[in-house]
Amino acid sequence: MNGSSPSPSCAAIDVVAIDGPSGAGKSTVAKRVAGQLGYQYLDTGAMYRAVTWHFLEAGCVPAECSGLPDRGAAQMRKVLDQTQLLLAAGRVLVNGLDVTSHLRTREVESQVSAVAALPFVRAAMRALQRQVAAAGALVAEGRDMCTAVFPNAAWKVFLDAKPLARAERRVADFARQGRTASLSVVLHEIEVRDRLDSTRDDAPLRQAQDAQFIDTSLLSSDQVVALVLALVRGKPRVMPS
Ligand code: DC
Repeated sequence: MNGSSPSPSCAAIDVVAIDGPSGAGKSTVAKRVAGQLGYQYLDTGAMYRAVTWHFLEAGCVPAECSGLPDRGAAQMRKVLDQTQLLLAAGRVLVNGLDVTSHLRTREVESQVSAVAALPFVRAAMRALQRQVAAAGALVAEGRDMCTAVFPNAAWKVFLDAKPLARAERRVADFARQGRTASLSVVLHEIEVRDRLDSTRDDAPLRQAQDAQFIDTSLLSSDQVVALVLALVRGKPRVMPS
């Protein structure tokens, strides 16, 4: 996997960039907005999760390598260089293997923020994300879509919600997957991940100045989808002259 990518040019590009913390409703909303607009949908969290799963399989996640002089960086870089990541039709393939069902395990969840903080991992993901955008109009969701990956996205949104509302949604998500989880544990995990994601050096989670802020705490996904579509349809992309 090669981390270099062309810098985005200044002209606005056909990307609806959606950022926000875990449980703010990004995935549901981004998928539905993409469907309504006929755009591609890109779940960038799934990319970081897939890389984390792959590092776990190779025995080189940051937690396992913390005692090494380079904290496992050389091994992780080597694994990453030999990794082909493909996202298609809601599935994630690592070197041809469908890993979709492994992305939400507790092992992956406990390591993904540490993996996502590694600059060489972020550079590789950024390059892939821009390749996807070069192939056509896109709704991309994550933590740094508006700020770092697509600073020239035509539409930018930051979704947030109160931590308790986000934790309740995660518990409901888990229940739909047949998993039980205590609200207090999930709330604590959300707070830990928020802290890690927003305090890392490389592309921390934060709202872009020009992003539309939406607090989803008391809104249904229908309402949030409607707000995002109104933003897109009400603010057509300005074509460069
Ligand atoms: O959205 P999610 O919960 O699937 O994200 C998983 C992790 O990946 C989370 O800790 C934040 C990180 N992430 C990131 O750093 N940058 C992105 N663009 C997307 C996700």
